[in-house]
Amino acid sequence: MEILKKIKLSSFEDYRGDLVAIEENMDLPFSIRRIYYMFNLKPNEPRGFHAHKKTQQLAICLRGSCTMLIDNGHEKTKIEMKDPKNGVLIDRMVWHEMHNFSSDCLLLLLASELYDENDYIRDYEIFLNEIN
Ligand code: TYD
Repeated sequence: MEILKKIKLSSFEDYRGDLVAIEENMDLPFSIRRIYYMFNLKPNEPRGFHAHKKTQQLAICLRGSCTMLIDNGHEKTKIEMKDPKNGVLIDRMVWHEMHNFSSDCLLLLLASELYDENDYIRDYEIFLNEIN
């Protein structure tokens, strides 16, 4: 299975600028129950470092750039996120980390579930045990 799932979003571009539309269950494989975004990020303060038991997410870098690390317990890959027309799917049981934020980075996350701390696995060893 492909570890990195990139989603090319529908964009409408004309002389006025660009518009991206995202429809649940169409442009992404889940219904959106939660939206959050991060900004005022620091290049040396990475975030994430967890996996979700149930939640699926789509990450889109709306402005600036950052590096997303995706790890399914068997393979790891990194992707430079800087294109608001491309999302990265963070599936359930995928360890993810976000690094190297540009000072203007604005990162949007669309999530399939409401926030629930019990859905998080924040210990990498526990994550690996759960995977295997
Ligand atoms: P945290 O999980 O540490 O963020 P990251 O994944 O970027 O490392 O979340 C930071 C704080 O925000 C923490 O106190 C939990 C809270 N939070 C919510 O209340 N709702 C949410 O949807 C999210 C993602 C976080």
